[in-house]
Amino acid sequence: MTEPFDAIDVIRAKRDGGSVPEPELRWMVDAYTRGYVSDAQMASFAMAIFQRGMQRDEIRVLTDAMIASGERMSFASLGKKTVDKHSTGGVGDKITLPLAPLVAAFGVAVPQLSGRGLGHTGGTLDKLEAIPGWRAALSNEEMFAQMQGDVGAVICAAGSGLAPADKKLYALRDVTGTVEAIPLIASSIMSKKIAEGTDALVLDVKFGSGAFMQDIDRARELAQTMVALGTDSGVATTALLTDMNVPLGFAIGNANEVRESVEILAGGGPADVRELTIALAREMLALAGLPDADVEGALDGGRAMDVWNAMIRAQDGDPMAALPVANETHVVTAPADGFVTRMDALPFGISAWRLGAGRARAEDPVIHAAGIDLHAKPGDRVTAGQPLFTLSGDDAARFPRALDALEGAWEIGAEASARGPLVRERITA
Ligand code: URA
Repeated sequence: MTEPFDAIDVIRAKRDGGSVPEPELRWMVDAYTRGYVSDAQMASFAMAIFQRGMQRDEIRVLTDAMIASGERMSFASLGKKTVDKHSTGGVGDKITLPLAPLVAAFGVAVPQLSGRGLGHTGGTLDKLEAIPGWRAALSNEEMFAQMQGDVGAVICAAGSGLAPADKKLYALRDVTGTVEAIPLIASSIMSKKIAEGTDALVLDVKFGSGAFMQDIDRARELAQTMVALGTDSGVATTALLTDMNVPLGFAIGNANEVRESVEILAGGGPADVRELTIALAREMLALAGLPDADVEGALDGGRAMDVWNAMIRAQDGDPMAALPVANETHVVTAPADGFVTRMDALPFGISAWRLGAGRARAEDPVIHAAGIDLHAKPGDRVTAGQPLFTLSGDDAARFPRALDALEGAWEIGAEASARGPLVRERITA
């Protein structure tokens, strides 16, 4: 086959700050997926995008080309509205677990195709695999049957057929310092979500120390870019900008995050996890045409918990089974009386990762019982000697490096510091 373009011309065009015309951009993605454009050339192109940016139109074409690299699913035959949620990732972010059954309790189908964690942010599938027997890999038929029937919600592994170009490009970006480019993140996330075929999508775009985007202006730009991509493709899309400077809730890990999610489904749990679960459920239900749904009532009255139990059982898990517990723990106490003034999300995420809650290489297993349980959060008054947080794991030899990560990550001060609201902004088309 004669190739219509040269990768080097496409790279030069972006390197020199120009726009890449649609045919060249589509070809570049396709030729990379086929293996004609090399990793070295694509890495150079990704770096040029990182440094020069892309026009909205180029991002749309890039996203479209990645969608075209694989299968497109459709839930049209379900006869129900489908609404999905995507979080750009954070520390202690277990919201998908209570959110999917909560939204499904209102008769809306929730196709939550999820991933595993890499680096300091946890993966939804890793958390759910702490539940004995639970199975992440479902066939398309099983997924449809679960959404169509009484359960309504499914959280499972995304098949490799969705946007394979993104899979290849994301792995390359991961090792070439080109992850944090807005055009690349937006096209990566949205290609998978649009290919999945959901009717509507709510994005939880995080900003702060534990997020991809440290500052809120960049997070806003990412959110606006993704909302525009979804809307232009016929997926009703909105986004919330939410604070990820502090870990969400009290649990960071896998089994402990499942426990905390179950508390939320029982109508309790930490206030910030409940607040964000409710805010995202409201967004999702509004997009499904149910703006007045009694979301709190479904949590407090047990309807969401009923769906959770059914959802876990449908995937061979036992929702009543005991979750793994760590053999070793290490408690860190407050050195003085005062208020917790700071707990930086990123080092807590790294520390939990070093304990074994996350993985360094995609093929590594995670330790489901490993993680950190916080006993106080910023704003709380503490007295000297009071436990601040507990590290857990199966191997005490991991504690020193996990503690190193937390050096300077938290602070006790004389006065409580004010925190801004958790949900900062709502972005619509
Ligand atoms: N998640 C993705 O799927 N892609 C990115 O680029 C970043 C986060």
